Amino acid sequence: MRIIEIIANKRDGIELSEEEIQYWITGLTNGEIPDYQSSSLLMAIVLNGMTDMETTHLTMAMMHSGDVMDLSTIEGIKVDKHSTGGVGDKTSLALGPMVASCGAKMAKMSGRGLGHTGGTIDKLESIPGFSVTLSQSDFISQVNRISLSIVGQTGTLVPADKILYALRDVTGTVPSIPLIASSIMSKKLAAGANTILLDVKYGDGAFMQTPVQAEKLAKAMIAIGELSQRDTRAMITDMNQPLGFAIGNALEVKEAIATLKGNGPQDFTELCYQAGTIMLVQAKVCTDRADARKRLEDSIASGAAFEKFKEFVAAQGGDIDCIDHPEKLPKSKNVTPLLNREEGYITSIKATQLGISAMKLGAGRQTKDDVINPAVGLLVYKKIGDYVNIDDVLVDIHHDSELSDEFIQDLSSSFTMANQPGQPVELIAKIL
Ligand code: URA
Repeated sequence: MRIIEIIANKRDGIELSEEEIQYWITGLTNGEIPDYQSSSLLMAIVLNGMTDMETTHLTMAMMHSGDVMDLSTIEGIKVDKHSTGGVGDKTSLALGPMVASCGAKMAKMSGRGLGHTGGTIDKLESIPGFSVTLSQSDFISQVNRISLSIVGQTGTLVPADKILYALRDVTGTVPSIPLIASSIMSKKLAAGANTILLDVKYGDGAFMQTPVQAEKLAKAMIAIGELSQRDTRAMITDMNQPLGFAIGNALEVKEAIATLKGNGPQDFTELCYQAGTIMLVQAKVCTDRADARKRLEDSIASGAAFEKFKEFVAAQGGDIDCIDHPEKLPKSKNVTPLLNREEGYITSIKATQLGISAMKLGAGRQTKDDVINPAVGLLVYKKIGDYVNIDDVLVDIHHDSELSDEFIQDLSSSFTMANQPGQPVELIAKIL
């Protein structure tokens, strides 16, 4: 087999066989196929797409390019969830303890943030002492003991995706449904859970711009999951404004704690409830969503979900004094309010711009070697549809370094005002 023929086939719209896809992924992973040939094939895939069969073969070849987790020594159904990436998306921090306190088992591997989106692992690391690297046996015994563990993805999980994603990032080949679906699902399948809930985001801060595109991506991923005998479901959710108020690592942990105590932002709390109800049904802890919702609401009201969060933080070496007293979490040197200068209804918020601004403060990474500052970020108090007066605080900027005029200008221009409220934003467009 020759890689040049495989590239030519994809260029000419000929469906690739399982063997051809396997040959490419093996050669890419062991370094025998150079980046320029993989890049060319990636672009042909972006332009000509892939059939469902090709996408499934690609996912399986990627999944088996490294270690595949064996969670069979954890009793019962193991649930997992994945968000396609958003601004202020701290869902796993609250959702994990919520579902675990209701009896589901979550053994989760998460990623770090890159660009305008954050990563669960960086957020957890803002808790002093918290370790995201556990041995396989500690990971498994923690889930057997307290039903919850979240660790960083090991370097040996889907190495093909690391190579491919780095290439896609610099060759304009990220936005492709088969490439995104196989990238996400290869990692989810290799992580070993029995059920997968996908939170597929659309809008300004997401890969997919519209609910229709997001649904297409969700359906591609559900098809892959079902073929692998995993109960796979999806929510299509809005990312045209940040989720909750907080963007930035310690700020997001604080917001997750408030949510677990029943005092979280309405949109974020609702997303956690909706996701949790699906997951409790997937875990067969509840037979219907109404019962699951009630169980989750009770877990917040009784304090069980918050106690589970503390148990989880303690098990991974984190300082639970910071959870009981969130004011002890890392704090920035300065907090500067951004005041509103134009009265009216907020009709749009550029989530991507807010994510980039938070990244520039040090809350995220421009390149994968950048070091994160856990304390900094933004608290964005206003939502689309809110009426704002002159001098209302739009955002509190938590920062350590000086703020340039350009930074303030970029932040202010993230909000658009009008005399009339625009279309109300539906957080959850669809559940599949
Ligand atoms: N997230 C991933 O893991 N891969 C993609 O291709 C896009 C989002």
